Amino acid sequence: MTTEGLISDLLACPRCDKTPLSLTNDKYSCIACKTEFPSIGGIPWLFAHPESSLSEWRNRLHFEIQSLTHDTQRISDELSNEDHSALTKERLELQLQANEQHRNSLRQILSPIDIQSSTSTYESYLALRTRLPTDQGLHTYYANIHRDWSWGEAENAASIEQIIKVANDSDGGQRLGDTLVLGAGGCRLAYDIHLQLDTQRTLAMDFNPLLMLIADSVIHGTDMQLYEFPIAPISTEYYAVERTLHAPQTIDGNFHLLLGDVLRPSFAAHSFDTVVTPWLIDIISEDFAVFAKRINQLLKPGGRWINFGSLAFDHPIRSRRYSPAEVIDIVQQTGFSEPTTHEACIPYMCSPASRHGRQELVFSFAASKQKDSQKPPRHNALPDWLVTGKEPVPALSTFRTQAMSTQIYAYIMSLIDGKRSIIDMADLLEQQQLMTRQEAEPAIRNFLTRMFDDSERQSQL
Ligand SMILES: C[S@@+](CC[C@H](N)C(=O)[O-])C[C@H]1O[C@@H](n2cnc3c(N)ncnc32)[C@H](O)[C@@H]1O
Repeated sequence: MTTEGLISDLLACPRCDKTPLSLTNDKYSCIACKTEFPSIGGIPWLFAHPESSLSEWRNRLHFEIQSLTHDTQRISDELSNEDHSALTKERLELQLQANEQHRNSLRQILSPIDIQSSTSTYESYLALRTRLPTDQGLHTYYANIHRDWSWGEAENAASIEQIIKVANDSDGGQRLGDTLVLGAGGCRLAYDIHLQLDTQRTLAMDFNPLLMLIADSVIHGTDMQLYEFPIAPISTEYYAVERTLHAPQTIDGNFHLLLGDVLRPSFAAHSFDTVVTPWLIDIISEDFAVFAKRINQLLKPGGRWINFGSLAFDHPIRSRRYSPAEVIDIVQQTGFSEPTTHEACIPYMCSPASRHGRQELVFSFAASKQKDSQKPPRHNALPDWLVTGKEPVPALSTFRTQAMSTQIYAYIMSLIDGKRSIIDMADLLEQQQLMTRQEAEPAIRNFLTRMFDDSERQSQL
């Protein structure tokens, strides 16, 4: 699908920030920093370091394929080597078949990213600055796809209702104009916003290519068959459920999908009438106070920020685990009007195939941009001393603690000779004056338990 001419005015280079992007043969590029952004299955790949992010997602794909292959092999071995009841056999056979099909589906859907990378070594180092979070895999929000396009009618309706409510209650009502949805995931909410509110062009961005490639097919009218793997299946036939993913209607040409990192946004400053952040602000690594400035930069004067979702900040720095009142305060401190807020209890990920499901007291707000905030610095996933290797490695107090425990752990590992017991090792640690015997014994046991768990896990891979 081509986006030619339709959204170039809304885009800017995510690498050098300011320069508009040019479009040639369906591919964007930046004339200033000479970065070319590929099109992946027809979706612009607008990461600051396109080659290295492609290779990161490709590695995640290979990892998923490898895990599914190992899992399939294990199930197959269990089926052929052990005696099972007819019920267990039935369940394992279903899982085996679903795994195999799912592996093939993944390969097929993600074939656009499974290409050779030409990343140079220097590029790879610099790309550490925009490294993807290590806890985000292809399947992290895979369940959302099934909710969005298969069983989630009630949840999807409850979600769009929250957006409509805060839009109606705030200045501007349902006129959203040029709208950007960040962290769009399976894209159902972005699709509903585009179709049900008064939008002009809607751009939906996420960094997960699996979710976006599936959404792209479904919203353009291709039904997809994909397995859902519920967390707590209600009975044997629900361990793997083949679902048909389907969109109620095909989307029009003013709806655009983009792949990229919302922390290195590929958008021209002050270009959107509305920015929507659904279930996003509390799961990104960036401090909300900084992210709020990024949203401000994207909006035109008078533009609106609409937020929806949970407020479960889990930042390692405790002061950044904001309460609703702190969120509202930060929004106002960042150049926005006093937010219109709304709370409602809605079902969340209640698959009919699972005994597991949640209720969330979601928090939504809408706030208009009253003045420009200070432009936040470029987001760096890692500090420069790690990226360039030229600056001194800081002597963090946590590094000193880790160095001490690493030495002790290395010493314990060196004591493993097939003869010594945990008690013998604890005696030696005491003789070396590293710990008292009483402290050493549980510490060694805990450490070796972890090592043992790791070795078990590795032998399963
Ligand atoms: C909790 S899910 C919400 C998905 C969707 N908004 C919804 O309501 O179903 C968060 C989404 O944000 C995406 N995401 C997280 N960090 C991101 C980043 N830095 N750049 C782009 N997308 C990101 C994830 O891939 C995921 O799809």
